[in-house]
Amino acid sequence: MAILSIPDLNITERDPQKIREFMQVRGIFFDQWQADIVFEDSASQEEILKAYESSLTPFMHAGGYQTADVITINKLTENYEAIRAKFLAEHTHSEDEIRFFVDGHGLFWFNLENEPVFNLLCEQGDLISVPAGTKHWFDAGETNPFVKAIRIFIDMSGWVPHYTESRLEERFSNFRVSK
Ligand SMILES: [Fe+2]
Repeated sequence: MAILSIPDLNITERDPQKIREFMQVRGIFFDQWQADIVFEDSASQEEILKAYESSLTPFMHAGGYQTADVITINKLTENYEAIRAKFLAEHTHSEDEIRFFVDGHGLFWFNLENEPVFNLLCEQGDLISVPAGTKHWFDAGETNPFVKAIRIFIDMSGWVPHYTESRLEERFSNFRVSK
């Protein structure tokens, strides 16, 4: 279940409805889908997409999304440090970044205008859509990363990170979600 944190204000929110509203007024779509399927490490992308078809298909039709795939990061992922670094620096995309967490967890950080930086821990069942142009970064964790997420795209080419070079993420590098 998702946890919202605003480190500078010492705020932590676990109520999904309140998180949804917090995100909605900021133009960020957050939802939760039923997700109680446990997949073997060897599960194929097709198997995972098929299992969530009943949620995925109407969502994709409604949003005009064209493609979906599955990203898996775990402790066996080669070059994890380099992969982590790529998304740990503040960046934007020219299209929405949409992730549904089939399993595992990851921390999305948001830097909106005139707002304190906040983050959302996404876990199994959480769906987040980071709007195009939103300054954000993502961390799967320094050690023992585990992400199994469906990625949804209009056009995969829009998902290239454009770095802001703000280095704002460094100020929050010691943050830990209070569970
Ligand atoms: Fe991103």
